[in-house]
Amino acid sequence: MYHLECIECRRKYPETEVIYTCTCGGLLDVVYDYSEINLTKKDLKAPLSVWKYRALLPVSMEPVSLKEGGTPLYRVDRIAKSTGMKEVYVKHEGMNPTGSFKDRGMTVGVTKALELGMKTVACASTGNTSASLAVYGAKAGVPAVVLLPSGKVALGKLAQALMHGAKVLSIRGNFDDALKLVRDLCDREGFYLLNSVNPYRLEGQKTIAFEIADQLGWQAPDRIILPVGNAGNITAIYKGFKELKKLGFIDSVPKMTGIQAEGACPIVKAIKNNAPEISPESKPETVATAIRIGNPVNAIKALNAIRESGGTAETVSDEEIISAQHELASVEGIGVEPASASSIAGLRKLVEMGIIDTDEMVVCVTTGHLLKDSEHVLAVCPKPIEIDATIEAVRKAVFMK
Ligand SMILES: Cc1ncc(COP(=O)(O)O)c(C=O)c1O
Ligand SMILES: [Zn+2]
Repeated sequence: MYHLECIECRRKYPETEVIYTCTCGGLLDVVYDYSEINLTKKDLKAPLSVWKYRALLPVSMEPVSLKEGGTPLYRVDRIAKSTGMKEVYVKHEGMNPTGSFKDRGMTVGVTKALELGMKTVACASTGNTSASLAVYGAKAGVPAVVLLPSGKVALGKLAQALMHGAKVLSIRGNFDDALKLVRDLCDREGFYLLNSVNPYRLEGQKTIAFEIADQLGWQAPDRIILPVGNAGNITAIYKGFKELKKLGFIDSVPKMTGIQAEGACPIVKAIKNNAPEISPESKPETVATAIRIGNPVNAIKALNAIRESGGTAETVSDEEIISAQHELASVEGIGVEPASASSIAGLRKLVEMGIIDTDEMVVCVTTGHLLKDSEHVLAVCPKPIEIDATIEAVRKAVFMK
């Protein structure tokens, strides 16, 4: 009912083959026989979850699941007002089991690893992927190996990877170096690679699109805005919306709008320069460590998603990211990590630039939870006020300007 297909040379591979990229070097897609999928809105009455959309997911065995997906879609009228928009929503992916959207990809990817008979799973990560892989590896009873850029992973993510029992390797290099190494390791040792170059990961992540349309009453928003690092998520969400359109669930596909940090923005540069591919950046740097990536592996797919959907890509500064993180937390009660706040910072900037029309219905995806990166919070928020344990001291401090 489905197979893998190269996006460059169209070569097909059976789903039973352990392969991540085509022999020509091209990225692979999971392609279904859509004429065989008889899915109607009536079949989708169950509560939201990744596995609700099982008819469009490439696994047959019982999934390795911790009840991922089903994340809230909040209407954020105060953010809308402050940006001059009419209708803005936040899809808060930080509400997944490990606190990021990666769980959608991992429940599918780790289940696929078991189906393919793989004995060890591995990934490189800016943090969230490693946390998620550690958890789903634990749930599946399969050892997990994770390679992290030394000193550049938020503490909450590192804590998760360690506590859930992954073998954690801290690489003296950046994420791009770690990804190159883990790909080599998987080839040599027969470990199953669960970075987003693995097309099964993206199949799980496309359920973000399914849920957004579902939550909006089977309607697509005009635009999706999300942070872009290795560029898997923007690709996956676009595929999800395209599949819904193909199956007649929605009439249009949103403009895919990717946001990167000024210090790590190869996709934005390629879009602005109308270049067919990205020029990798060797020294990516940003406070948003989750998207501190200079050579996104899914760049070709992401550029296509942005261009084909009529979307765009824009950079935001670290200051704009932190300010958006504060605003979302304090006026809407939504706590997100810095990378995730870039979608709100990007919305503001693109409205100010006149690129986003104020009448558009926009969904910003916030990819990870605030508590992932509490060190950063302590660095950018005022310190707690330490006082004596007396009512006088408390009253004085409460009313202190
Ligand atoms: C919180 C967060 N946001 C965004 C991203 C970027 O996603 P992608 O690599 O799929 O572009 C990541 C990836 O690690 C992440 O952890
Ligand atoms: Zn090929």
